[in-house]
Amino acid sequence: MTNSKKLVVGNLKMNPVSVVEFDRYLDMLEKELKGKEFEKTEIVVCPPIVYLQKLLDRKLKNVKAGVQDVFWEYQGAYTGQISAGMVKSVGATFAIVGHSERRKYFGENEEIINLKLKAILKNGLNAVLCVGESEEERKKGQTSQVLKKQLSGSLAGIAPGKLEYISITYEPIWAVGTDKIPTSDEILEAKIIIKKTIAEIFSVRSAEKIRLLYGGSIHSQFVEQVCLDPAMDGGLVGRESLQSYEFVKIAKMIDDN
Ligand code: PGA
Repeated sequence: MTNSKKLVVGNLKMNPVSVVEFDRYLDMLEKELKGKEFEKTEIVVCPPIVYLQKLLDRKLKNVKAGVQDVFWEYQGAYTGQISAGMVKSVGATFAIVGHSERRKYFGENEEIINLKLKAILKNGLNAVLCVGESEEERKKGQTSQVLKKQLSGSLAGIAPGKLEYISITYEPIWAVGTDKIPTSDEILEAKIIIKKTIAEIFSVRSAEKIRLLYGGSIHSQFVEQVCLDPAMDGGLVGRESLQSYEFVKIAKMIDDN
């Protein structure tokens, strides 16, 4: 992993609805990627776990495979769970952790996210750690407090040397799945809070080096506003990653920047 590169992650969430559709999606993605070079950018696709092997088998040029979640234990009687070690063993290299939908629907808190993050790193995967405030928290002026709490809880006990395997994604909850986009100033504010917090927990050098992504309603027409600031290192794309044309276009815009 080279964290000097930019990163564009497609979070397919619980889509598409069948393996036939997933195959079609891969066909389209392959077609869109054909003839395009990505010199500065890593592209990662995180499909539902049942399609992961299909993605790996395609060996798409410039595309790495990731997962949307892992469990923190290595193995054992944990019905329905998948370990980071298993993910690593099939050849995937990235895992999303701390996504707001996992926090909201599955009750994941900082303690759980911290356990998962440690398992991801211990097993040699790269983590895409999501943080972000709700609309209510923003209105109450609690953005800074929330981001700091999420970062310090999620990153507790992580060795500074592991930071190069972590990309922090600022995903304001009010922008996920809504078509609401933060202003450049709001992103700048979040970026400063995140970098400052990393500097406080680790060091100024760590804050400078860590990859910082934006996530939440990324469309190609908004890429400039949310991802192209020189201090941003890419994006986490939800719905638009299902549209291979849009996804590749977004990745290309970030790579060309
Ligand atoms: P969205 O999702 O792009 O559909 O808003 C982003 C995400 O949840 O990662």
